Formats: sequence, structure tokens, C-alpha cells
Amino acid sequence: MSNLTSAEMSRLHPETLALSHGFDPFLSEGSVKPPVFMTSTFAFRKAEDGKKFFAWMRGEGGAPTGKHQAGLIYSRFNNPNLEIFEDRMAIWEGMKGACSFASGMAAISTALLATHLPGDEVIVCTPLYGGTETFMRGFLAKFGIKCHFIIAGVGAPAEAAKVMSAATRSIFIETPANPNNRLTDITAMKELATQQTRRDGRGVLIMIDNTMAGPVYSQPVKQGADIVLYSATKFIGGHSDIVGGVALADDMGLLKAIGSLRNSLGGMPNPHTAWLLTRSLETLKIRAEASARNAQRCADFLVTHPKVRAVSFLGLLKQGDPEYEIYRKQHNGPGSLISLYLHGGEKEAFAFLDHLKVMKLAVSLGSTESLAQHPAAMTHSGLSAEAKLASGVSDDLVRISIGIENVDDLIWDLTQALEHV
Ligand SMILES: Cc1ncc(COP(=O)(O)O)c(C=O)c1O
Repeated sequence: MSNLTSAEMSRLHPETLALSHGFDPFLSEGSVKPPVFMTSTFAFRKAEDGKKFFAWMRGEGGAPTGKHQAGLIYSRFNNPNLEIFEDRMAIWEGMKGACSFASGMAAISTALLATHLPGDEVIVCTPLYGGTETFMRGFLAKFGIKCHFIIAGVGAPAEAAKVMSAATRSIFIETPANPNNRLTDITAMKELATQQTRRDGRGVLIMIDNTMAGPVYSQPVKQGADIVLYSATKFIGGHSDIVGGVALADDMGLLKAIGSLRNSLGGMPNPHTAWLLTRSLETLKIRAEASARNAQRCADFLVTHPKVRAVSFLGLLKQGDPEYEIYRKQHNGPGSLISLYLHGGEKEAFAFLDHLKVMKLAVSLGSTESLAQHPAAMTHSGLSAEAKLASGVSDDLVRISIGIENVDDLIWDLTQALEHV
């Protein structure tokens, strides 16, 4: 697509640009698909070029231009496979730039460390991914960065207002929340952030972990997100065969700070991982649509089942439900995560999980195959009993990520597993 004008490019959709944006076949022997640039280092034509590229890397001087002037130095700093993936991710998200990582946790931890200083405070909506919470409670605290944990959902902005102060540097939100699908109003949080004056004038950042919705069904930048984070291991990679992450921002200063820290800590993906992630982006939309269709059918089935106490699935929200307006504003589709509450507790939940035959009993989500797990005993087992109670991580909860199998097979599997409860 190298011959597209920027006006032409802006009328094309992400699923079209995902097939070829950012790669010129004629720089790689006419290869229609990008090769894997499996190299640790890049040759400079002249010593002067190496000098210029390093200066550009440090933020001095303009970007290298012209043929063979890509500014490539060393694969911890930059590599074509990482850059193609980052450019296409930025298009999906409608943001100016992206920085790829070796995992979601590498993206989250690096973005937090790059944007916070000792003395800063973070307001965090819970529940959230256990690894993020462990990093915040165990690690950020050691560096003098205090986290205030509030409950995600419609009441979250009012709770945030109570702990907001001149020391607040960010509001960290996972919406829908993992594992209970609670929605938090990003616009309301952005308003709070804009009203707050920080003691050092640095501003309050809205940081969104958008892993659970995925880039097809929600683009939090539209509601004012400053930094969007993903575990690319989930919907973006989408096949349970890659671990990766990405951070996106519109403010290039923020992105540069995150990128520089990534380069120092060494948390970049390898070229093969970035190549696989790029390939996965080509089918992101059709995978997301197929799994959301299946999830709607499964949720409609589960919600009427006598062994089921409750189902939380975005596609079941109706006008009048407290979170419905947030859903309408922030999402263009329900995604494929179902929080299933069975009558009973851990025993009943385990009986259900142990009898699934098509769905895999495994953590993770957003893959082609359906996955089911027990958050209280698995992904969120590190939470205290009070934290589990406060954030709805109950013993009767099973989190199901619906895949792209034939939906009749999935409903058959759910039916037969529920018979054992
Ligand atoms: C919502 C969310 N964010 C972040 C992560 C961490 O991602 P990764 O496992 O790629 O490091 C996960 C992993 O399950 C997750 O579910």
C-alpha cells in the first residue's frame, strides 16, 4: 500500500490496512508478505549513517529519510517486524503510535514505571488481572508509588473522586473487568482527571488495559484514554500460541518514554513473535466476530439453564441495566467472555469444568478455541478473601472465553457438563 496517498489511506478500514500497511514488498524481493527479519543487528552503509541513527534514537535530529534510511540499528531498539506490527496496531486503535512488548505484563509494568515517579499515586479499578495487581501491590509500593484500589463498575467514578488528590498521576482501568465483566465509565474518569490539578503540573493519565474487549469492539482513545495496554497473548495473537504485549499512546512524548524504558529493560518481542502477531492481525476482525456470535448464543442458552445462578455477558445487557449506557458508549460489540455463576460453590464449578469435553480447562482468553477456568482458585487465587468478596470473585464463578468452534458443539458441551453439576 506504499502508493496510497494519506487521504486515500484515511478512508480505508483497519481490516484492509492490516493486510499490507507499513510494508513495501519491493524492499524485500517483491515478497507479498513481510519476511521474518531474524537478525540482532543492522549494517550501516556509512559510519555517518550510524551516527545519525543513534542521534535520532536519542531524540536528537530528524527521522532518517530516503531509500535504505530506515534508521535500523539493533533488534532491542528496532526491527522491521516489530515496527510493522506496531504501525498496524496503531491503525486498529486509532492512535498515533504503538510499542510492542514480549508480554502483556512487560507492556503494563514498563508503561507504569515509565510514567510514574516516587510519591505519585494510582487509582486502580478492581477486579483486574491478578499479575497487574501483584505488580502494583508488591512492586510499585517498594518504589513509593501508592495504589488506591476501588471497585470497578458504575460507582467507580464517585469512588475515584474520594481518593483523587494532587498526588494522583493515573487512573488504571480494566474494562470489562477480569473476571466479572464489570464496566467502568472511561469518559467520567477522564472528566475527573481533567479537573484535578497535580502538584507538579504533569497531569493525570487515563490508562486502560483493553485486553478483555480487544481492539475490534472497543477503542478507549475515543473516550479519552491516554495509554491503552494489551496482553497481545489474547485476542490479538488469538491462537494460544504466542505471548506478547503492546502499549499505545497519542502523545508521542509518552510513547517515547515507554519505548526508551522498554529498550533499557529489554522487554521487546523477538522478530518471530512480532511476525506472528502481525499475521494474526489479518484475521482479528473475523475471529472477533465469529467468537462474539458464538458467545451470544452460548450466553442466551446459559441464562435460562436451571443450574445457572447468573450470567454476566455484555450482550445480555438491556436498556435500564446500570451498565447499559456505558456499554453503548464504549463498545461496538459484546466480545466473547462469559462470567458464569452456578448454583453452589467451588465443588459445583469444578464438576462443571472437569466434565467439559470440547472447551479446554485452561487460563487465558481470546483464542480460537474456547477456554474455561475458575478465577477464585486460579487466575485470581492470590487475592485476599476480602478482596475476592469485594470484587465479586466468588467460588461459584467460572470464566469462559468462547472460541470459533461450531456453536452447536459448544452448546452440546455446556449442556453435558452442566448435567454433572
Ligand atoms: C486483562 C489482562 N491483562 C494483562 C494480562 C497479562 O498478559 P500476559 O500474560 O501476556 O503477560 C492478562 C493475562 O491473562 C490479562 O488477562
